[in-house]
Amino acid sequence: MSEDSRVDILYERAEHAARIIRAHYSDDVHTAIVLGSGLGAFADELEDAVALHYGDIPGFARSTVEGHAGRLVLGKTGGVNVAAMQGRFHYYEGYSFEEVTFPVRTLGALGVRSLVLTNAAGGVNIAFDQGALMIISDHLNLIGGNPLRGANDERFGARFPDMTEVYARDFQEIAAEEGREIELELRRGVYAALPGPSYETPAEIRMLRTLGADAIGMSTVPEAIVARHMGLKVLGISCITNMAAGVLEAPINHAEVIETGERVREKFTKLLRRVIPKLSVVA
Ligand code: HPA
Repeated sequence: MSEDSRVDILYERAEHAARIIRAHYSDDVHTAIVLGSGLGAFADELEDAVALHYGDIPGFARSTVEGHAGRLVLGKTGGVNVAAMQGRFHYYEGYSFEEVTFPVRTLGALGVRSLVLTNAAGGVNIAFDQGALMIISDHLNLIGGNPLRGANDERFGARFPDMTEVYARDFQEIAAEEGREIELELRRGVYAALPGPSYETPAEIRMLRTLGADAIGMSTVPEAIVARHMGLKVLGISCITNMAAGVLEAPINHAEVIETGERVREKFTKLLRRVIPKLSVVA
């Protein structure tokens, strides 16, 4: 198979997956959200919702991580249609970058123009507290590869897409303003992605702090790169589920990550309910 026909297949597979989704939910959807570990509850409160299991969407892999339901829920919040991914695919699960980012390709094919990426992250910035929410201002791609590697399909976007403003500044301002309205203090900072699945060592966290990271996680960055490749506007929000290795004495465990996600669920969904209707992009 030539490189080119492989690329054709990716583009057409995304279009095909979008057609299948549309067969279940025919309304226009311009906004989507990816809900990270322990943060899936937002999707459960969408109105007039339709839920598709990832296994029912061609090309979607299966989510294997505890705390991720593995469903795409389409419905309304604040009068706006939204596609919400309950759970995502991570590089550490063994998926290729193409598999990790295929849902974002599909959402783009569906007509989504604004994408909210949420995640659970460790706090690298020592001024952060466990349970804080952080608006992502920029990222460090340390995950070990780039999802755009390989032949480029111009139908998706340019060979060398600009990454000067991955996380749209006006979206950051909208999130900050909505946070202020509900007296929710939102931090802002740089998210660094490492491949995982082991958590970092204290030495790695000191290194990341020197590099300018405020939060650390194992997702989001490949999705954000692919979204920008397709010209989607991105808002990123991290839930600081734990302080990163070495910041506190205690070891880090996944149960704590899920538990903190659940503890902040209410304020997080409250914020999302306010922010999402304001993100519509006038194309
Ligand atoms: N490190 C990496 N990823 C994470 C962490 C962490 O401390 N917490 C939640 N996701």
